[in-house]
Amino acid sequence: MALYSEKVMEYFTNPRNVGYIEDADGIGEVGNATCGDIMKIYLKIKDDIIEDVKFETFGCGSAIASSSMATEMIKGKPLGEALELTNKAVAQALDGLPAHKMHCSVLAEEAIKSAVKDYYVKNGIEYDALLFPEFNHDDH
Ligand code: FES
Repeated sequence: MALYSEKVMEYFTNPRNVGYIEDADGIGEVGNATCGDIMKIYLKIKDDIIEDVKFETFGCGSAIASSSMATEMIKGKPLGEALELTNKAVAQALDGLPAHKMHCSVLAEEAIKSAVKDYYVKNGIEYDALLFPEFNHDDH
């Protein structure tokens, strides 16, 4: 069996939503200390809806495929739904990731959460701190 699903390869070679949003309402950046990969998510938000989302990922193919898929999954969705997106759902949508690459999808989940948090903080919107655990990437 091939290491990567066709979908992973497709989202890696033709990534969706690559780039940045100049006047983003929320920006999230996370990294994994072990592999050194970095992911940045930009959100344009209106009336609680994610109108636009872009990403910049300095990382492996699985991280690029994960951010590409994750941005597609939250585009046009309410913030509450974006916060519910799990790395497992992202990996599943990609028809799976090898076990040692699951952490790449974690970056996507956390970058989105971090961007939403940034939006809440910038706009003085109250939020439940439990939704945003401190991200710790010392393990793989
Ligand atoms: Fe670290 Fe993929 S190897 S994000």
